[in-house]
Amino acid sequence: MIGTRLSRLARVAIGMALMCLPMAPLMAAEPASATATATASTDNPTIQEKVVRTCTACHHENYKIPVMSIFKTKHGVMADSRAPFGDRACMSCHGDSVEHLKDITQQPDVLFAEHSHNTPAEKNAPCLTCHESGIRMHWKGGQHETNNLACVDCHKIHTDHDKVRDKKTQPQVCFKCHKDRQADVLKPYSHPIKEGKVACSDCHNPHGTVGPKLLKKNNVVETCYQCHAEKRGPFLWEHPPVREDCTNCHNPHGSIHQALLKQRVPFLCQQCHLMNFHPSGTYSGTGIPSGGGAAQQLLLRGCENCHSAVHGSNHPGGRRWQR
Ligand code: HEC
Ligand code: HEC
Ligand code: HEC
Ligand code: HEC
Ligand code: HEC
Ligand code: HEC
Ligand code: HEC
Ligand code: HEC
Ligand code: HEC
Ligand code: HEC
Repeated sequence: MIGTRLSRLARVAIGMALMCLPMAPLMAAEPASATATATASTDNPTIQEKVVRTCTACHHENYKIPVMSIFKTKHGVMADSRAPFGDRACMSCHGDSVEHLKDITQQPDVLFAEHSHNTPAEKNAPCLTCHESGIRMHWKGGQHETNNLACVDCHKIHTDHDKVRDKKTQPQVCFKCHKDRQADVLKPYSHPIKEGKVACSDCHNPHGTVGPKLLKKNNVVETCYQCHAEKRGPFLWEHPPVREDCTNCHNPHGSIHQALLKQRVPFLCQQCHLMNFHPSGTYSGTGIPSGGGAAQQLLLRGCENCHSAVHGSNHPGGRRWQR
């Protein structure tokens, strides 16, 4: 432990020493910044404060990206020894960047921008040193990791508004890559996703899961029960496809049919109930309940007009979910 710490300090010290080499003033604007001033308030600055000053001497608030906004986030808290600024400051994420400090035309060790020389795995490594537990336990092997996503494809660090963690703006981030889901959400019937009331992350854990399709819970039904607890049952009379998977009938992202149904009733029901005979009518070769003159009526009224408790019934007489 102490060894690691010392070697870190040593590395930082090298960086500091290199800083003393003559370097042309590269930015026109004054390097002084509110943060640098605030952190320099003591005559005996800590190592972190020195590192901050090293980098922010050039990357100050007039820099083209708002580097200083990091101090409005949890990462910027110097008093938190778990956080970058309680540790190696900028270098916790960008690496010691010794070459960059020697010659600013050299890239830093870890560059997150799109024109970076780093692979997604190299960009993720610093983040994972601090964030591999909790909801990211299954990052390794998850669909996003195996498809070479970087944390920074979704997260922004130098900002106090990380779009992906705000329900209202999160979908925009996901839609960059999931255009087909965007098309679904814009259909006439959808979860209130565009209204910002339900987010992708209410059903999915984009960091990786044990279950399929990055679902937050182990399967579809458990994911839906989080909010639709009344559908959980157990019911006296269970409808097997409901217990099995809500997406047998619903498209959770959106649909042109009411109640997010995948198909219009009766066609929805007839995917599975290809009935030659319906008890309330007579023989029908088409799978549509027929009762002579009543057939048309049955169709128009829809199956759920009679079988209204299609998700299951607790009524003693609800064996066919008419109540
Ligand atoms: C002497 C001034 C100076 C210092 C000190 C300095 N940089 Fe830089 N840095 C630059 C310049 C100039 C560039 C290249 C121009 C640009 O793209 O902004 C750059 C580029 C970068 C980039 C990549 C920008 C890009 O889009 O390609 C990162 C990241 C970076 N520096 C991080 C750091 C970190 C972290 C430190 C402290 C360890 C640091 N810099 C110290 C001047 C400096
Ligand atoms: C030196 C450790 C460290 C490193 C490196 C680090 N983080 Fe963090 N991160 C933290 C700590 C500590 C928090 C605050 C956690 C808390 O208060 O619950 C945090 C918080 C966050 C948050 C939530 C912010 C909030 O306001 O709640 C996100 C998102 C995040 N980190 C992403 C990243 C990403 C992406 C990277 C890599 C680019 C990264 N972190 C690198 C330690 C680190
Ligand atoms: C596909 C997009 C996506 C990727 C890639 C991604 N995240 Fe996240 N991250 C999110 C979303 C969405 C949330 C908000 C989750 C929520 O509110 O339940 C989040 C929340 C977080 C948080 C704060 C919540 C917490 O409890 O920890 C941290 C820290 C974090 N992510 C770190 C990371 C790290 C580290 C990586 C890379 C290994 C990463 N994320 C990759 C989308 C992503
Ligand atoms: C928690 C990890 C983390 C810390 C700490 C951090 N950065 Fe960054 N930095 C990033 C990420 C991620 C990006 C990509 C843009 C974004 O997310 O806002 C970035 C972007 C940059 C860029 C633009 C080039 C690029 O890579 O896109 C510069 C320059 C930069 N950081 C400098 C700094 C300086 C200076 C400090 C210290 C004051 C610092 N960073 C601290 C993660 C970090
Ligand atoms: C109400 C819960 C819910 C919400 C909200 C939700 N999803 Fe899903 N998503 C699911 C379920 C359940 C599946 C698996 C069954 C399926 O493919 O329909 C799924 C599957 C997916 C798939 C895999 C699709 C495929 O065809 O295999 C992607 C990608 C996806 N969702 C992205 C998103 C995005 C992006 C958002 C936010 C705009 C989002 N989801 C919001 C429940 C949800
Ligand atoms: C940079 C592109 C990118 C971003 C941003 C992104 N994804 Fe993905 N996502 C992918 C890729 C690539 C895959 C794997 C291939 C596929 O299934 O489409 C994937 C897979 C998924 C899957 C699993 C699909 C399956 O078949 O198992 C879900 C669910 C998903 N993403 C949800 C999200 C959510 C939610 C967000 C936003 C928080 C998001 N994604 C942001 C690229 C992205
Ligand atoms: C985070 C909470 C949440 C989760 C998880 C969730 N839902 Fe919803 N659901 C809602 C909200 C909110 C509404 C809108 C209710 C309203 O408008 O009155 C809704 C509406 C619906 C509707 C349409 C109701 C109507 O009358 O049009 C259906 C169907 C539905 N959800 C199915 C599902 C399925 C299937 C899942 C699992 C894949 C699921 N929900 C997961 C919150 C959730
Ligand atoms: C066999 C097909 C089928 C399955 C499977 C199914 N539903 Fe439905 N669902 C329907 C039909 C049909 C409607 C519209 C008629 C109505 O309002 O009951 C509906 C309506 C809804 C509604 C809005 C009206 C209400 O009853 O609250 C919600 C919410 C809902 N379903 C959630 C779920 C959830 C959660 C699951 C999985 C546990 C599920 N459904 C599985 C057929 C199904
Ligand atoms: C994904 C397939 C599937 C879909 C879609 C489906 N069901 Fe079912 N349904 C079943 C299964 C399986 C059973 C149980 C059959 C059994 O026990 O013999 C069942 C049983 C029933 C029964 C009781 C049958 C009996 O013999 O007791 C009724 C009534 C019923 N479903 C109505 C509907 C209605 C109305 C719809 C449309 C809203 C619908 N089902 C959609 C698969 C489905
Ligand atoms: C006018 C009301 C009505 C309509 C509309 C209706 N049903 Fe029925 N259904 C009944 C009655 C009554 C029974 C017999 C209940 C009993 O015997 O307990 C029944 C029984 C069933 C059974 C069980 C069959 C068996 O052999 O026991 C299934 C499956 C079924 N209906 C599916 C459907 C489907 C699918 C639709 C739509 C295409 C539909 N019903 C429309 C009233 C209706």
